[in-house]
Amino acid sequence: MLVLMIYCVAISTAAVTYKVGDEEGWDPVVSMESWTKGKTFFAGDVLEFIYDDPYDVAVVNKTAHDDCSLNDASIVLERTGDNKYTLPFGANYFIDSHPDICALGLKMAIDAKAPPT
Ligand SMILES: *[C@@H]1O[C@H](CO)[C@@H](O)[C@H](O)[C@H]1NC(C)=O
Repeated sequence: MLVLMIYCVAISTAAVTYKVGDEEGWDPVVSMESWTKGKTFFAGDVLEFIYDDPYDVAVVNKTAHDDCSLNDASIVLERTGDNKYTLPFGANYFIDSHPDICALGLKMAIDAKAPPT
């Protein structure tokens, strides 16, 4: 079943993989709000977060994104330095799990639209 679903996604859309922050990666030197501007993201597109210590990636809800603080709904991705995340449909929020680093601008909101058919 899972294989079939993956196959259907693969043939119905041309998913794009984005390297978040381009050359700099997921790093507060990049304004992530600016990086997302002008891009249209679709469900099924992949975000690749490449980062160094001490940074990390947390998948959070709007409250945590706005407050730069984790809550019960937050998932911190394994700190491998290179995480790929497939966007589900709808609102997606990412922050660095450290409030001070998040506050520097290492946070972003992405609205993933329904994929073109
Ligand atoms: C985010 O999750 C927290 C903890 O579960 C919850 O209290 C809060 O209402 C959620 N915010 C939104 C916008 O869903």
